[in-house]
Amino acid sequence: MLLGILKETSPGETRVALLPESLKGLLAQGIEIAVEAGAGVAAGAPDAAYEEVGARVAADRDGLLASADVLPMVSTLDAADQARLKTGAVVIGFMRPLDAPAALLPAIERGATLFSMEIVPRITRAQSMDALSSMATVAGYKAVIMAADRLPRLFPMLMTAAGTIPPARVFVIGAGVAGLQAIATARRLGAVVEAYDVRAAAGEQVRSLGAKFLDVDLGGINTEGGGGYAAELTEEALDRGRDLITKTAAHSDVIVTTAQVPGRPAPRLIRRDAVEAMRPGSVLVDLAAPAGGNCELTKAGVTQQINGVTLLAPLNLPAEVPVDASKLYARNVLNFLGLIVKKGELTLDLGDEVLAGACVAHQGKPVNPRVAKLLEGVGVAG
Ligand code: NAI
Repeated sequence: MLLGILKETSPGETRVALLPESLKGLLAQGIEIAVEAGAGVAAGAPDAAYEEVGARVAADRDGLLASADVLPMVSTLDAADQARLKTGAVVIGFMRPLDAPAALLPAIERGATLFSMEIVPRITRAQSMDALSSMATVAGYKAVIMAADRLPRLFPMLMTAAGTIPPARVFVIGAGVAGLQAIATARRLGAVVEAYDVRAAAGEQVRSLGAKFLDVDLGGINTEGGGGYAAELTEEALDRGRDLITKTAAHSDVIVTTAQVPGRPAPRLIRRDAVEAMRPGSVLVDLAAPAGGNCELTKAGVTQQINGVTLLAPLNLPAEVPVDASKLYARNVLNFLGLIVKKGELTLDLGDEVLAGACVAHQGKPVNPRVAKLLEGVGVAG
């Protein structure tokens, strides 16, 4: 069995799916591993480091695509690369199956088995494979560091002979995995932090990090979807959150916003009036930019100045911390591989709920029911 580690091709991607340190157990099972030349360089793993542990470096990407049985990736393959896959190959990666299922058609038509990290079920047994959480942790940290760097003020309170500097005030919207890490990071830097989330359960976690949780009366509606995620709210409920956000924005130096509802466009929570209420020099980081953004002024991937407020809308923050983001991701991928590679052989048991949940398609047929429904819309029969 040949496992191929490709160089990622999406613009700005610096992570790699498996690091040399991740390969020992796989090689010990007699699996052959080939890494595309330069695949790990940006993540701190030069070709020589892969060779040292016993992997082979391949200069020929097309040859690797055509011969690999398993291809763990960070992102996914473009249409031309998908068309080169070996029949029956297994590809693993962030594939955006709920946002852009049609982009996977060439691989599905070739009969490839596609496992997407976004849809790995969030059950206890699969926690060690939860790459959404590990990447959100990195993004939440980096968002605060970026904001601190841009802010023309200090984060911590300083009491000096030259006077006292008050602490920066940070407002975090969406206290899920990324939001909680943003809160923890801002607190470590000494900021005073407030946070808002529609899930009541988030309140306790926010308070345990030393931040203030802002409650909004949403009239007792259900705000929880399945699996710990938020439900999509009505416009009326969203409006109550928007009013609170505008009020809080007026005294916030930094807003980090992370609110998302899986498979839906990000809720538009920050109106123009909230941005206009912020003091000049303040910074807003919209981590929901890849899903359309939480702020109505957000332009994905573009940094804007609006009345002196810096609005950042990064699309791939984990790629800005490639070494540790790759370390965490490689661990998630390795744990996932443990379910499909046994004693050096590929064993695909789609009766396993983790594998079935994460599987976009197998032998030309959609597997995950949510993805299957979307694929029906682009002409793939179940
Ligand atoms: P996410 O990225 O989908 O959303 C981020 C946050 O935005 C969530 O906390 C959500 O409640 C919030 N949000 C959505 N709509 C909002 C609105 N209109 N206004 C304000 N906030 C809004 O979610 P994430 O961070 O991936 O996970 C959320 C939660 O899921 C975690 O905090 C945890 O409770 C649970 N989870 C469970 C896992 C498990 O293994 N069982 C693993 C990871 C997360």
